[in-house]
Amino acid sequence: MRSGLTSPMKNNIIGRCKLNIEQGLCFMDQISVYFKGLLATIVASLLAWHASIGGVVPLPINTKFVTAPAVFDVGDGYAVMWATDKKGMAWVTFEVDGKEYTVYDSASGTIRTDETLHAVKVDKDLFDQAGSYRVHSAYILFNFGYITFRGAEAVSQAYDFRGYEGQETIRGLFFADVHGQKEMAYQNTALLTQDAPADFVVLGGDIARDWLLTQKTFVDEILDLAVHMSGSGIPVVYVRGNHECRGAWATQMRNYFPTPTGELYFTTSYGPIGALVLDTGEDKDDDDPQYGGLADFDAYRKQHLNWIKGLRSDTFDAYEYKVCYAHKYNFNVPAQQSGENWAIPVRALGIPLTLTGHGHTNKVFSDAESGMVIFEDGGTAAGSLATFSGGQISVKTRHLWRNHRRLGRTGHVLSCIV
Ligand SMILES: [Fe+2]
Repeated sequence: MRSGLTSPMKNNIIGRCKLNIEQGLCFMDQISVYFKGLLATIVASLLAWHASIGGVVPLPINTKFVTAPAVFDVGDGYAVMWATDKKGMAWVTFEVDGKEYTVYDSASGTIRTDETLHAVKVDKDLFDQAGSYRVHSAYILFNFGYITFRGAEAVSQAYDFRGYEGQETIRGLFFADVHGQKEMAYQNTALLTQDAPADFVVLGGDIARDWLLTQKTFVDEILDLAVHMSGSGIPVVYVRGNHECRGAWATQMRNYFPTPTGELYFTTSYGPIGALVLDTGEDKDDDDPQYGGLADFDAYRKQHLNWIKGLRSDTFDAYEYKVCYAHKYNFNVPAQQSGENWAIPVRALGIPLTLTGHGHTNKVFSDAESGMVIFEDGGTAAGSLATFSGGQISVKTRHLWRNHRRLGRTGHVLSCIV
């Protein structure tokens, strides 16, 4: 005989359930509804209470730092940048002459709360004087009206920072085409700075392995490298490479580099060094099949070139040393730059030297039309060291063989002086 309920019993239970449904809900459902209602009442009461007086509802949720900070030189200030594991607010603190400064990651007066990548713009002179700083973050679950649900504050260690402090000899590292090979970049940084530490770092583009798919790609491959090469303690100038023009997150990157132009090209300085930072964009025509119809660099290059031509001719007159940073070594080739030789207007600003990358080999050459000296870093994390001293700029790099495994062991040194 098949086990199971007999039809009368089945009908009886079904009948009771029907009755319960008609009357309300089963007992367990009633308990669940009761607690949900209680929770909703508590939350509503909290909201009403805080809405009446405003304030913060503390949450027992901690934010963790995903990276230490890097201090990016963005022309008219520094962007102190770091990443956290949760979205929320961020701020930087430092002290000058006994006065404490707190600067927030904010937009037009409102502190950002929905970011895990934080960029706090601080005053260069003040920050240089401070000599040390801390970064802070706090998780924000949500904020609306007069109430904010906020996690505990995370505060970093104190980081030493050294800007220009009157040194007569200044050393700048220039690394292009790292393409994700961070360990090799760190090894060559050690080689290039074994006699004296660097004063600043220039990341000359194509630092990411392939392209910028997500914010995490930027954090892992560019920000993390900037943190380690600078030790969070000297300025970093970022120059965009053609590979960093690609990928879904590429259009977001400039939001974290608050330059005076709003773009990734700008002028800046480090003591007696005046620098022109270019964004040479992609390396192929906009209609190249690789771009899938998503490249608009012809218009961008025209905008960029107009900006260069619009700079006052005396922009760099006050500086003893003048230099240009650009990713592409062939930025003087009209066919590569929407029909114009960019070296001509750059040289007209009194700049004798451009540090570049892109070709993955070393070379130094002079642009015939402008006389500009163009020094190409070896790429694949070889790195170069530019020394500014005695009125001259000298640059050297270790020769990079195509097989990067031989780097630094058998290579000779390529150098130039302007
Ligand atoms: Fe490149």
